Amino acid sequence: MTMIKNEDVTAAFDEVAPRYDLMVALNPGYHVHLRSAAHALVEWLPGPALRAAGSDVSILDLGCGSGASTRAVLQAAQAAGLRSSIVGVDASLAMLEQARAKQWPAGVRFEMGQAEKIAWSRYEWELDDPIDGVFAAYLFRNVADRDAVLAGIFDVLADGGVLVAQEYSITGSRPWVHALWSAVCWLVVIPLGWLTSRRTRLYRYLWRSVRSFDSIQTFVDRLYRAGFADVEVRTPPGWQRGILHTFRARKPPAVS
Ligand SMILES: C[S@@+](CC[C@H](N)C(=O)[O-])C[C@H]1O[C@@H](n2cnc3c(N)ncnc32)[C@H](O)[C@@H]1O
Repeated sequence: MTMIKNEDVTAAFDEVAPRYDLMVALNPGYHVHLRSAAHALVEWLPGPALRAAGSDVSILDLGCGSGASTRAVLQAAQAAGLRSSIVGVDASLAMLEQARAKQWPAGVRFEMGQAEKIAWSRYEWELDDPIDGVFAAYLFRNVADRDAVLAGIFDVLADGGVLVAQEYSITGSRPWVHALWSAVCWLVVIPLGWLTSRRTRLYRYLWRSVRSFDSIQTFVDRLYRAGFADVEVRTPPGWQRGILHTFRARKPPAVS
């Protein structure tokens, strides 16, 4: 297995950042799947009736990229009648520049940082203490020490807080799933990457890193080991069925 270094992943995202939104716009379902995962996050947040009067729900979008996931979370919170304070964090400055260039309401901001450093960077990022929900779309595949990042997320979350992670996972799946993933990457994603950005490094890495990412069960086990409860996994309909997965988990509420 080739392990890609953090700085290589960040450089690969920096390289394609100006064309990233165009690339994901060409991926049917990308925004729909983000919206559905964001809805899953908001569904488990305490609703307006349960919140202290005037208090915002605080959400961390870890690996926010160009802001597509941040937008999905913001809209899901608005649709649920929640006022939110959202911090998007990403390791790639060029991706953050794309996010910051968009229009956002007060209460949404972006910080540069590594997910691996969440334990001590939470102060630098000026995260609320505690956070109600953490969203991590297409992040965990890029993280070498997933247990440490999950422990950090668990720590910043409020009792009863929610984590939603969206990721491609095919390890342990049937051979046709692997064949489909390789066909989509080599016949569609990598050529489109070349056409949109004249770069293929990130998209070849996407192909490889999904093949070596955790199986669904391995990631679920990590969530339970980190202390999360009520772990759920969903997969969308369509060709990504069995390939894309939304993991939802809750930090157990405090026992009174
Ligand atoms: C595939 S993009 C997804 C962006 C966004 N969440 C979305 O759904 O559109 C993954 C993002 O994670 C960021 N990333 C990768 N590894 C990271 C790490 N260790 N810490 C923080 N960000 C990271 C990358 O820079 C990139 O912007």
